[in-house]
Amino acid sequence: MHMQRLEKIWLAFGVAMLAVFLLVIGVSAFALGAQPPSEHHHMIDPTKVNETAPFDQPGVRQVAKDEYEAVIVAWTFAYTAGTGEDANVVRVPAGSTVHFTVTSQDVVHGFEIPGTNVNFMVEPGQVSQASHKFTKKGEYLILCNEYCGAAHELMMMKLIVT
Ligand code: CUA
Repeated sequence: MHMQRLEKIWLAFGVAMLAVFLLVIGVSAFALGAQPPSEHHHMIDPTKVNETAPFDQPGVRQVAKDEYEAVIVAWTFAYTAGTGEDANVVRVPAGSTVHFTVTSQDVVHGFEIPGTNVNFMVEPGQVSQASHKFTKKGEYLILCNEYCGAAHELMMMKLIVT
């Protein structure tokens, strides 16, 4: 097979770029430990999520004035954020800062609140955290943006600011 000189250069350039990108990803993942956002970078046993605090009692609790912690378990294909009628809802008063603490008990899910900068990946056993201050009253959607199975597009919950 005959190749033009420019073709060879272009091919070598492509292969070199691929190697560079793989190296960057490898170094950031394994050497620098890039992970989903978490204040503590800690893992729990993904097979024991429902028995491990705080995920044994998912829900919303006030931790300070105008500050709430929302402990949420992601699973195919929903989020558990409490019990009873609040199992699938986070309710907070306007002006609250909500600290989300989220993990998955099965596969990789997403956690995105459109219109805010809350958007992270939820990995099995990885405790992911993010905070946001909700100043406007209304309903916010929390949705899964990582394909997680047949009913992925139905995986969502509500955050209601009262
Ligand atoms: Cu969970 Cu898509």
